[in-house]
Amino acid sequence: MKNSIPTHVGIIMDGNGRWATRRGLVRSAGHQAGYDRLKKTALYILHKGVKYLSIFAFSTENFKRSKEEVDFLMNLFCTGFGKEKDFFRENDVKVVFSGRDKPLSKKLMKIMDELEDYTKDCKAGILNICLNYGGQAEIVDASKKIALLVKEDKLNIEDITEETFYKYLYNDLPPIDLLIRTSGEIRISNFMLYSLSYAELVFTSTCFPDFDEKEFDACLEDYQNRNITKGSVK
Ligand code: FPP
Repeated sequence: MKNSIPTHVGIIMDGNGRWATRRGLVRSAGHQAGYDRLKKTALYILHKGVKYLSIFAFSTENFKRSKEEVDFLMNLFCTGFGKEKDFFRENDVKVVFSGRDKPLSKKLMKIMDELEDYTKDCKAGILNICLNYGGQAEIVDASKKIALLVKEDKLNIEDITEETFYKYLYNDLPPIDLLIRTSGEIRISNFMLYSLSYAELVFTSTCFPDFDEKEFDACLEDYQNRNITKGSVK
């Protein structure tokens, strides 16, 4: 029997730069194409019955890229999230963000807060956008939250378990069932390390701007046909 539709899917959206370079375009054209693709593919995935979709939009390490590329992406986030408020609400998608604040601009953080607030009652699915995000940083930040609560006598050490730890991550989401990375790279790259513990991993050579509905269906088919033994010591 096939596995059911995964509850939580993660996507490392890689290959925008290569997609553009192969077409003789500047890298930012690849990010723009990735953004356009994301809107379509994310809706498709959520309307297929996946309840949570986490995407890697910008890692803490991505700040090391050229100023031009970082500025382009920050502008894309500002205009995209600002412009797309109704798109998400009309499609009943609740948007949440994961990551650290600094050094994001006040303008972008305000736009992110507004989008979260504007979509907070949406029910069709949750889109978790990891922006200025690092998986180790998330575990460190969760540990600090816990340490503070314990220090203030608001949490008993015995109540910290593998299951309750999720509550202290940037967003309290269930574990990831299926992780997809596009563009042929076979790495996790510090993405949602705690949540990925028992995830099935699917790597596709397709660059993200070409990751369409058919490509997702192929990943889903692979996942659904696997012999999944979650939590087993095998
Ligand atoms: C990795 O491709 C992609 C990124 C660092 C940015 C991902 C962002 C988007 C798809 C836009 C999403 C937009 C919103 C609003 C969430 P790469 O540049 O590392 O590609 P390369 O490995 O071929 O150079």
